[in-house]
Amino acid sequence: MERWSSRTGFLLAAVGSAVGLGNIWRFPTIVGENGGGAFYLLYLISFMLFALPLMMLEVSIGRRTRCDVVSALGLARRELRASGWLVCIITLSILSYYLVVAGWTLAFLLMYVAGWDITFQQFVSSYWPVASFIAAALITGIVSSSGVRRGIESINSYLMPLVFLILIVMALYSTTLPGFRDGVRFFLTPDPRSLLDGEIWAAAFGQAFFSLGVGQGILLTYGTYLKRDVEIRKASITVALLDILASTLAGFVIFPLVFSFGLEPAAGPELAFVSLPRAFEGMPSGRILGASFFALLFSAALTSSVSLLEVSTAAVTSTKGLSRRRAGLGLTSVVLFLGLPSALSYSPLDLMVYGNRFLDLMDMLAGTFGLLITALLISVAFTWALSRELIPEEVSASRLTYSAARYAVPLVLAIIISWRAIQLI
Ligand code: PHE
Repeated sequence: MERWSSRTGFLLAAVGSAVGLGNIWRFPTIVGENGGGAFYLLYLISFMLFALPLMMLEVSIGRRTRCDVVSALGLARRELRASGWLVCIITLSILSYYLVVAGWTLAFLLMYVAGWDITFQQFVSSYWPVASFIAAALITGIVSSSGVRRGIESINSYLMPLVFLILIVMALYSTTLPGFRDGVRFFLTPDPRSLLDGEIWAAAFGQAFFSLGVGQGILLTYGTYLKRDVEIRKASITVALLDILASTLAGFVIFPLVFSFGLEPAAGPELAFVSLPRAFEGMPSGRILGASFFALLFSAALTSSVSLLEVSTAAVTSTKGLSRRRAGLGLTSVVLFLGLPSALSYSPLDLMVYGNRFLDLMDMLAGTFGLLITALLISVAFTWALSRELIPEEVSASRLTYSAARYAVPLVLAIIISWRAIQLI
């Protein structure tokens, strides 16, 4: 089995998986919709108390068992093996619409570089969203087929430093904008009344899990390529802090822009694609800024897409004996098939289901609901079903981590899943 070349190789890959559209596109959107500072506070709490312990559990189970998610669940209890394939289906479903948005960022990047002036409305009135989705899926498939070290690790070693560099430069630039103070105030001042709102708690919790990408078998799979001498607790804390840093920097980039140009902070998923280009238009170096912003989004998206695909690649190669290339080809075809309706829902076809665009529906079903279910499955399987002596020392030795992963995480997940199910009905 392949291994990361070093501790840094693993850290870069894990940060690459965590930092993605979730931080730069989804996070400011959800902060905007949930009233700013209170949400941010709850997000930090959920992150440290629940998402981080689950990350430690996943990585250490991966390294201990050296098994893909299907075999690892089968090891915990034989009947759970089939549920591993459910995890693969959910991650592939998330990937399918995630790549559509990644495709938008790729198309916007090319448009800024070429100097074309096209609005989001014009963009989705063409079939470019389908073409860019296919391009994003193929690039992801190619990186993944090139192997753990030569593909995943090497792309992360270029793109992750670039992502942080662009984020930092753009955040510094934001401090010069007239709306900097108002933007930051909106982002960071908690409104105590919102703390009593269950919806904000649920959203903050879901976002912490989405952002770190825990409970999806990703970190378990990345853990299987980890060498023995890396300290998992420290590495996990580093990844979590860098992920929080990326979201925070994204907030510092986006809200000052929103407030400087009189945009709507609760504009929803279109914030990055409709509102921000309007802001870039009004700036002296807008074209460079726009190109940097979309280069940032696409790089961050690509390193996360690769990790979402790796869960199924590892499962298929080790349980079906397929080569990485074959698995990559097959799985990319599956993702293209699954993602096409989402791509078409933001095209002249306007594909809707029950009044929702297909992509928004996938975000709700797979990215919000499905994600919580696999997280519940993973937290319960590896703390309750796995016999105590098989639980890795990294988790069992710390009472806090162990109780969080065994009691607190499943309990909170069960509450939020019930809450979401009631809403869905
Ligand atoms: N964590 C990544 C992000 O924030 C992508 C991801 C989403 C991974 C959902 C797993 C599950 O964009």
